[in-house]
Amino acid sequence: MASQGNGSGAVGEVTVADPEKRPISTIVIIIAMQTEALPLVNKFQLKEDPDSVFPKGAPWVRYHGIYKGLNINIIWPGKDLTLGVDSVGTISASLVTYASIQALQPDLIINAGTAGGFKAKGASIGDVFLASEIAFHDRRIPIPVFDLYGVGLRQAFSTPNLLKKLNIKVGKLSTGDSLDMSSRDEASIIANDATIKDMEGAAVAYVADLLKVPAIFVKAVTDIVDGEKPTAEEFMQNLVAVTAALGQAITQVVDCINGKCLSEL
Ligand code: ADE
Repeated sequence: MASQGNGSGAVGEVTVADPEKRPISTIVIIIAMQTEALPLVNKFQLKEDPDSVFPKGAPWVRYHGIYKGLNINIIWPGKDLTLGVDSVGTISASLVTYASIQALQPDLIINAGTAGGFKAKGASIGDVFLASEIAFHDRRIPIPVFDLYGVGLRQAFSTPNLLKKLNIKVGKLSTGDSLDMSSRDEASIIANDATIKDMEGAAVAYVADLLKVPAIFVKAVTDIVDGEKPTAEEFMQNLVAVTAALGQAITQVVDCINGKCLSEL
């Protein structure tokens, strides 16, 4: 049981309810692309924070509101300040995850977004996956133990009851900073036994683990990596439609979380 000072200055201890056993109240949803975020911002009727909790000048955007009693924060890393495109990838993802945890102290993090899927592992366009574990595929350090550090394997927070309720697939997620896939990446993705591939998940998992905040990963498949079509083309073609499927899945997840404790997920 955790204990903390009572703030009175007197020596004393107050017991704090086990966070696993009190209803979840604050959720942070990390989403890399504006196209992926906006349907959910609308669905949950969130408003952009006029007084940013983030450092002045950072493009990071927080949409916030109360939905069915849950304090929901969608965090979008915003547009690159120089190039004006979405700040995708692991650097922005880890920074906003860190800053959001510091500012908002969430009970749970959801990393939502799109992913490439491997048809050889059972993925199809429009499928929504809950990742069971997450690792990197582009951090190769062939020195004992550094090799494992590079892969950075982490488990998602276990949510057996959520899984039972949702029509969602389960698979391992592999993360790298490229949309395409080099042959070296492919070998690492196979070693990671991944069904889906994204550009943020393992970075979010790293920071969430560091700061001991439970995290889950919901990813919708926009392109088939081991298919015939060029990835970028297929991704752009399917982005809007697949984002709708992602939005539905996240709404179901949030509805399911509502009123529950972490230990009930
Ligand atoms: N997001 C959507 N498709 C992806 C892919 N093929 N690789 C990485 N991230 C993605």
